[in-house]
Amino acid sequence: MRLKGKICVITGSASGIGRACAIRYAAEGARVVVADINTAGGEAVVAQIVESGGEAIFQPTDVSEPAQLDALLKRALDTYGDVTVWHNNAFKSVFKNIIDQTLEEFDDTVRVSLRAYWYGSKIAVTHMMAHNGGVILNTASVQSYFGEPGFSAYQVAKGGILSLTRSIGVDHAPKVRAVAIAPGFIITPAHDGIPPETIERVKASIPAKRGAQPEEVAALAAFLASDEADYITATGIIIDGGYLGI
Ligand SMILES: NC(=O)c1ccc[n+]([C@@H]2O[C@H](COP(=O)([O-])OP(=O)(O)OC[C@H]3O[C@@H](n4cnc5c(N)ncnc54)[C@H](O)[C@@H]3O)[C@@H](O)[C@H]2O)c1
Repeated sequence: MRLKGKICVITGSASGIGRACAIRYAAEGARVVVADINTAGGEAVVAQIVESGGEAIFQPTDVSEPAQLDALLKRALDTYGDVTVWHNNAFKSVFKNIIDQTLEEFDDTVRVSLRAYWYGSKIAVTHMMAHNGGVILNTASVQSYFGEPGFSAYQVAKGGILSLTRSIGVDHAPKVRAVAIAPGFIITPAHDGIPPETIERVKASIPAKRGAQPEEVAALAAFLASDEADYITATGIIIDGGYLGI
């Protein structure tokens, strides 16, 4: 129960990594606010947490709308009180190189996958600095660290998330910690539709020779959200089965 007494807000938590983190945070004793554009999925996550004896609520949220992030923070404060962990995790992108990518796709990607991280962090850090401090977690990617062909706008967003995390970490230590989680290949619905032979090729290129389950990322996130990680801030933690080798 390493998160007992903590209140955790997590975006993009109807599915994949966010879902696994929400479930793990609750299992570790936190009260959790599940936020997503997918209402049915978000409510199902809350139902699963409550059935297991945990505490959670769902707030329908489109993170690309700052007013909806304001409403998310307000709901968390009104329902549970002092928010101590804010985890930006939602993403949207179309994966293309810069020639093929349209300006509209770029704007869409950045709005959901970078600007929302900045605005969510802004309101959460403002609250935390005025109260009892806290932790900002940002789901980044191995692509925050290296160039992979065909991911122009996504890579811009993921690089920006790591820089955002560093800037919050140095500006607001020691009261607020900020940590980026940089996953490699994690088996989630985000990969639905990718041909099986491509998936096998990716797995073969990873030293661990497999993709990870979202629960493995959630175990890392629960540690980073906890007081045991008090000396970790303004940085990214890579979880990639050795893919980057750094
Ligand atoms: N799966 C991987 O291999 C992998 C690797 C590196 C990084 N990541 C990162 O992990 C995070 C989670 O990805 P995932 O693989 O679990 O994906 P996923 O598709 O399973 O989940 C993404 C969630 O974001 C939600 N979402 C999309 N747009 C939204 C919006 N405007 N407002 C609110 N919610 C919105 C979706 O409804 C969905 O529930 C993302 O930031 C992604 O970039 C994933």
